[in-house]
Amino acid sequence: MMDGATTTTAATVLILLGPPGAGKGTQARMLEETFGLVQLSTGDLLREAVAARTDAGKAAKAVMESGKLVSDDIVIAILRDRLEDPDCAKGVILDGFPRTTVQADALAALLKERGQSVNAAISMDVDDAAMVERISGRFTCGHCGEGYHDTFKPSATSGICDKCGSSDMKRRADDNAETVVQRLEAYHAQTAPLITYYERTGALSRIDAMKAIEEIASNLSQLVAKVTA
Ligand code: AP5
Repeated sequence: MMDGATTTTAATVLILLGPPGAGKGTQARMLEETFGLVQLSTGDLLREAVAARTDAGKAAKAVMESGKLVSDDIVIAILRDRLEDPDCAKGVILDGFPRTTVQADALAALLKERGQSVNAAISMDVDDAAMVERISGRFTCGHCGEGYHDTFKPSATSGICDKCGSSDMKRRADDNAETVVQRLEAYHAQTAPLITYYERTGALSRIDAMKAIEEIASNLSQLVAKVTA
């Protein structure tokens, strides 16, 4: 957590909703630092499972490479296990979960067991046309996970991570034009209905995610400060 960070209550649960490339991961990492919350990215958890060749990882690998959604059972089990970790008591930012109404219902039940609820489900609104450009220019530090973009967020020294100094930069296997189209289709068919879902529960907020990274971060921080006050 950076100096002067604001600390929220232990029960804070934020959801970042948005299509691939909306900036969920970028903003979740910034909110993590500002508010002392823990980012839970089901995409990252699944990629770890794939790398570790667990049963869940073996089942998820081909599905992820195709751009479709991994089965609800696998993702819910992975998230449930991660939520048991002690660091999650600080409060969490869910990045990429839930992505279906089945997952949203499962999350509500999991939180109810813990006496928690969703503070805010924040829809990061973006145009589909911007997504391919954002995703095709993305790379990530393999050591600390910091995310970059060839044009929009280059590292200060080419090939070197600003945060940890590593030169181990990686590009994701599913960040190609063909898979991005499939990922966008999956978003519109299965995840976009969650905007209405959270509108009905009263938890929905919306952010214009077409702006510059720092401006979105500032708007999000104000929103999160309000819902966690
Ligand atoms: P996941 O890893 O969650 O990928 P995603 O949802 O497709 O989202 P991305 O990580 O691609 O985008 P992002 O919104 O985080 O954008 P980022 O901040 O990196 O999921 C991968 C796969 O795992 C899925 O396809 C599915 O198979 C499976 N999966 C995961 N969760 C699942 C679930 N719950 N259920 C079922 N299956 C699941 O930004 C992108 C780039 O743009 C970066 O380079 C960044 O620097 C740049 N950028 C960010 N903001 C801006 C801005 N405002 N202006 C300009 N550039 C920007």
